[in-house]
Amino acid sequence: MEAQNIQVNHCAVKKEKPNTDQLEFGTVFTDHMFIMDYSEESKWHDARIVPYQPLTIDPSSMVFHYGQSVFEGMKAYLSSDGDTQLFRPEKNMQRLNHSNDRLCIPQVDENFVIQAIKKLISVDQDWVPEAEGTTLYIRPFIISTESYIGVAPSAHYKLIVILSPVGAYYKEGINPVKIAVENEFVRTVKGGTGEAKTGGNYAASLKAQEIAGHKGFAQVLWLDGVEKKYIEEVGSMNIFFKINGEVVTPALNGSILEGVTRNSVIQLLKHWNIPVVERKISMEELQQAHEDGLLEEAFGAGTAAVISPIGQITWNNNDFLINGEKTGEVAKKLYDTLTGIQYGREEDPFGWVTKVKDGVTKIAQ
Ligand code: COI
Repeated sequence: MEAQNIQVNHCAVKKEKPNTDQLEFGTVFTDHMFIMDYSEESKWHDARIVPYQPLTIDPSSMVFHYGQSVFEGMKAYLSSDGDTQLFRPEKNMQRLNHSNDRLCIPQVDENFVIQAIKKLISVDQDWVPEAEGTTLYIRPFIISTESYIGVAPSAHYKLIVILSPVGAYYKEGINPVKIAVENEFVRTVKGGTGEAKTGGNYAASLKAQEIAGHKGFAQVLWLDGVEKKYIEEVGSMNIFFKINGEVVTPALNGSILEGVTRNSVIQLLKHWNIPVVERKISMEELQQAHEDGLLEEAFGAGTAAVISPIGQITWNNNDFLINGEKTGEVAKKLYDTLTGIQYGREEDPFGWVTKVKDGVTKIAQ
């Protein structure tokens, strides 16, 4: 499949755009979406851009019953020179195929999907928001659409990409959030689907998230599903701690999502010669570090959350207040540098950014 063959069916009437100074996360969607279908006979086919619209799907479609689905989260940024750019989209596509493999969903042509996303963004270019801290969030997802209620991998799928102009993920914006350590529920276990970006992991997180939310926490911190001892991740971001000058993040173990922002943070820290290590870290160790005054910073990293400083971690009714509940130096430097690269304000030493227009052949209007 070639990106220039993607058919574009433009919407007749464009929607009214939201005020970009008051954008929330994930509530508004653009005028168009990308779709392609999969069948065993035709493989991935019929790639098209159509007006954003509800789907007509049979109630017996397998996705409704057994949750065979995967998704990704990416962003497009409007740079100061007026270009729209993507951040490491190839990493998202690699992860999409990794998730596909775990969920028995057929592999996609990673380069083709990136080209399709670029083409979709070009069609909806006027939706890329301009206000500081806003972006166009990109949500590619795949659902199983075979009409069958036996438990088996589906023979049919749809890959869809929708776009949403967004502001900050947390209501706190870039101010420190409060996180509750989850002792009762588990999100996933090694050998489960934790490493895949699949809806079931997020469904499994809702109960704990709801309880924590009622107590005023922004998110929960998940522990390993077997011993409930080792720190894994926060539901919408990976986690980092600065302990006695060294940055520590839980090592990937099969149940932690391999975040693109996580990987970028590690590369940036190494580039700056700030010690960083990926290893197991237990709550006991974190508590000890806090008691000894060595827990200097905590922050989350994710596409939606960017770099989100953590001001308080609560475990067994003990509140660990971190860095006086203020954004730490390392978190601030990471936030400024990452967003600087993403919005084209800073040099991109790693070649992480790709311009949307570089991948788009002329779009039929
Ligand atoms: C992202 O960071 O893009 C995510 O997918 C997290 C989320 C909003 C579920």
